[in-house]
Amino acid sequence: MTGCNYTFHHNTMPSNLLAGKVGIISGALNDQSIAWKVAQRAHAEGARFVLTNAPLAMRMGEINKLSEECNAPIIPADATSTEELEALFSGAQEQLGGKIDFVLHSIGMSANIRKKKHYGELDYKFFQQTIDVSAMSFHKMMAVAEKQDAMNEWGSIVALSYIAAQRAFLDYTDMTQAKAMLESIARSYGQRFGKLKKVRVNTVSQSPTKTTAGTGITGFDAFYNFADMMSPLGNAPAEACADYCISLFSDLTRYVTMQNLMHDGGFSTTGISAEIVDVMTKAAGAQE
Ligand code: NAI
Repeated sequence: MTGCNYTFHHNTMPSNLLAGKVGIISGALNDQSIAWKVAQRAHAEGARFVLTNAPLAMRMGEINKLSEECNAPIIPADATSTEELEALFSGAQEQLGGKIDFVLHSIGMSANIRKKKHYGELDYKFFQQTIDVSAMSFHKMMAVAEKQDAMNEWGSIVALSYIAAQRAFLDYTDMTQAKAMLESIARSYGQRFGKLKKVRVNTVSQSPTKTTAGTGITGFDAFYNFADMMSPLGNAPAEACADYCISLFSDLTRYVTMQNLMHDGGFSTTGISAEIVDVMTKAAGAQE
């Protein structure tokens, strides 16, 4: 698998891209999490930040390792609760000694996916929860940041998305609608925050990635392998996604806003690849 041979990152020397910047990073559950890699990379690039996750997720205690490694305080917050988000943004400003330059929203959860419900039998309570946790929380974060005037000018806010927002992937069930909404919120709030504070808002649409959230999806290995065979560069690993997020937090991307940015090794604009032709040809041969 090309996606597993990610060596470039290890040759990428830190260059203080985020020196002097402070931020909030959500969603680091374990060392597979995309947010975990973003935190490590942000630390290497000279940023200071607060880590946050749902109080429930903290029970595993793994985040403490990351907190020590990055010298980053932890402020628990359920991203569906405005009150907890208020405490997060005010606590972060207090601990970091000023306004915020960057925010990572790396939060997704669907009980319908967990319970392996197919698209025709979705539980609507779960559906609402999926939207609340995975999409509306992004609006809530930004509304709280706006009300507290917590963002520095030219700040950057990034959320992680998936191509199921544009194309039908049935096994992604209600997360599909959550991602479509997440990307739409990035456009609307991007317009508002840009005018108000020159803050930019984008989503990064990432390749399938082997994390707790990712591997929970029915047929994940097939998704993963298909995308890897389709993408000329192979699936983008979590470390590379982190690099891209760092570039979006840096001053090198100040006029990029209200975009859904594909970080997928070329998957989204590929029609068919030689690898897929090969598999199909062999399958046809086996049928004869
Ligand atoms: P992960 O399972 O490591 O991270 C998901 C995080 O969401 C966890 O840390 C979890 O505790 C947090 N979370 C869940 N409910 C929460 C709540 N109520 N309040 C606060 N935090 C809550 O998995 P991963 O893959 O790193 O996910 C991060 C983001 O990347 C998600 O938005 C996911 O949809 C997105 N993404 C993942 C892909 C994949 O294949 N793994 C592909 C494209 C996007």
